[in-house]
Amino acid sequence: MSDDDPDLPAGVARRDFGDGPALATRGESVYGEPTGDGWRRWDPHRSKLGATIEKGLDTGLSADASVLYLGAANGTTVSHVADVAGPTYAVEFAPRSARDLLGVCDTRSNLFPLLKDARKPETYAHVVEADLDVLVQDVATRGQARVAVENARFLADDGRLVLAVKARSEDVTAAPEAVFDEALADLREAYDVLARTPLEPYHDDHLAVVATPR
Ligand SMILES: C[S@@+](CC[C@H](N)C(=O)[O-])C[C@H]1O[C@@H](n2cnc3c(N)ncnc32)[C@H](O)[C@@H]1O
Repeated sequence: MSDDDPDLPAGVARRDFGDGPALATRGESVYGEPTGDGWRRWDPHRSKLGATIEKGLDTGLSADASVLYLGAANGTTVSHVADVAGPTYAVEFAPRSARDLLGVCDTRSNLFPLLKDARKPETYAHVVEADLDVLVQDVATRGQARVAVENARFLADDGRLVLAVKARSEDVTAAPEAVFDEALADLREAYDVLARTPLEPYHDDHLAVVATPR
């Protein structure tokens, strides 16, 4: 729980960077975001996890939480996660993005980059610790729920999956609601769904899901 807003995780606050209260974490600037007094703005328009927090879901993110983040890209969101949490493992399979991610890791000793395919968890199982508190998934690739199911093995029994399902990554022609229903059905193979919300107005045709292993 945040010191100044009980609805936010500890380490996440609302700060005014000139245009009203905005989500913020403490850490080195990464993507040219507004900063002040050691805080950096966490833009929910650029981060599905930031949008999930703005929409009021309990993500399980907390100070010292251990985290596996799938689809880290160049580190925009995972940098905020590492500002707040404990050991944070960041999986990304695109070499160009992973190069940028390495720069983000330079200023965060608790952030560990893994140039790996999230569909093959056996390739990083020897590096990532077991019984993690939080699994964040934002791979935006076909079979998003399947990737979450494959990676459930890393979570503690009371851990949290925070998944952003992008409808267009599954099927550009299908109605988003049909895609979300299918993803939720697939997820239930390994998880109990605790909460979900569309990510509008921050991200169109995305569903955020918080779940716990069954
Ligand atoms: C929507 S972007 C992630 C944005 C990032 N989570 C953020 O908020 O800063 C999706 C990322 O997932 C990566 N990705 C897609 N499929 C993947 C896979 N199977 N394994 C690892 N990374 C993958 C892509 O290369 C891309 O960088």
